[in-house]
Amino acid sequence: MPPGRICVAYMGRVRANPSAARALPYRTRTVKSRRDGRGWSGLDPVKARTLTSPDSAAMRPRRFGPVEPLRGTIRVPGDKSISHRALMLGALAVGTTRISGLLEGEDVLATASAMRAMGAQIERTGVGTWRVDGVGVGSLLQPQVALDMGNSGTSTRLLMGLVASHPISAMFTGDASLSGRPMGRVIEPLSRIGAVFSASPGGRLPLMLQGISPGVPIEYCLPVASAQVKSAVLLAGLNIRGTTTVIEPVATRDHSERMLAGFGADVTVERDAAGARIIRIAGEAELRPQTLEVPGDPSSAAFFIVAALIVPGSELTIENVGLNPTRAGLIAVLRAMGGSIHEINGREVGGEPVADLVVRHSALCGVEIDPAIAPSMIDEFPVLFVAAALAQGRTTTSGLDELRVKESDRLAAMAAALTHVGAQVEERADGLVIDGSGGEPLRGSGNAVVATPLDHRIAMSMAVAGLASSGGVEVDDTRPIATSFPTFEKLLEGLAG
Ligand code: S3P
Repeated sequence: MPPGRICVAYMGRVRANPSAARALPYRTRTVKSRRDGRGWSGLDPVKARTLTSPDSAAMRPRRFGPVEPLRGTIRVPGDKSISHRALMLGALAVGTTRISGLLEGEDVLATASAMRAMGAQIERTGVGTWRVDGVGVGSLLQPQVALDMGNSGTSTRLLMGLVASHPISAMFTGDASLSGRPMGRVIEPLSRIGAVFSASPGGRLPLMLQGISPGVPIEYCLPVASAQVKSAVLLAGLNIRGTTTVIEPVATRDHSERMLAGFGADVTVERDAAGARIIRIAGEAELRPQTLEVPGDPSSAAFFIVAALIVPGSELTIENVGLNPTRAGLIAVLRAMGGSIHEINGREVGGEPVADLVVRHSALCGVEIDPAIAPSMIDEFPVLFVAAALAQGRTTTSGLDELRVKESDRLAAMAAALTHVGAQVEERADGLVIDGSGGEPLRGSGNAVVATPLDHRIAMSMAVAGLASSGGVEVDDTRPIATSFPTFEKLLEGLAG
């Protein structure tokens, strides 16, 4: 077995290499933390927006009410996952990368700030167009400020991978939502590489990460289906001599693999006899700068797809939507529910399949959703629950434990929010069961506000629910929408006119 070869618990089975584990003690200390994300080790945080609590006086409530049919043509902003990766890989290439269609949401801007703090020059040259002058793999600089990740789990986990295999240290801080999310899932494999973490209780932010170079190449079997964990290990592998391997029993979004190959890294993907994906990356990579275009985000398009399906009389064209099969689960489920969604102008943008979608109002029916499809629509469940609440009959979901550790506990948040506006919802341990209204408008939230605990996707989902309600839905706080879809409200206003 090569040095550092490790496979950990997967679905209850433990396949470990104890000698490697001994060679690489998992050194995680718990530190006494200040939860306000400020004042760590005398470092000033990189400026990112930090929402401290959902009940702060600055909350921005808004009522979303019934609208005329949604008709016309729109474009949603660039894909969030791809935008993060484009900035990170551009910052690691030697030379100038030019990006168009970059999502200018707060999460992606947090990644840009962090990469700047580690030496890359990153400049906005126009709307969605950015220039990145990279430092080269192995040459990230010691940040002089704490890296404030705002609300962004993707920035945090992927950047932890990058820092882990560089001889630098970084303090990661975030908002109240991010500070409640588990980081143990990346701390664990990155500790095996040799990085050292001092985390807040429960393996959470704020945390201090001391990277290591040279790090140890590992073989890591993902215990949870997570593209963030996969990507953290692969990005760490870029600066580790030898081959770093990630085994992915359940496929997750593959943007990292695609983009790493596009930047010239030596990445291979195979399937084993059981169908698991085996992804290998050769270390000490030299990345070549690229000119790339980011396709529209299917996770943002999802809100308008569902809105057009549930608002009677709607016919909406959404241009330039990324349709990577590892992201397209929602469209398959909505079609199975009877949704009219047609793809036209299929093409490739930035190494990703893309099409324009024509969506027409449809009578939806409830379905039982196979948990195997969950990774390809993991961010779309909140809005799928809204579609289910308007469908005829029962929709059953299961196997969705991961939704409890997103920007909020999305099962609890959506069960409470939809119940509040008049939907029939049963919350189970790993999913929701929803008995739909058969197309009848939901009651709405009355005089009370619907809680969307610092979670952009809950806020946008409940806004969409408001469009198909009789009394309107008062969303408690629209600020988090800017993390992933800053133009959401404007686009909606433009359509609802
Ligand atoms: C993402 C992966 C997913 C997703 C998140 C973006 C990524 O998270 O929910 O919004 O860009 O890799 P997990 O890896 O936790 O499933």
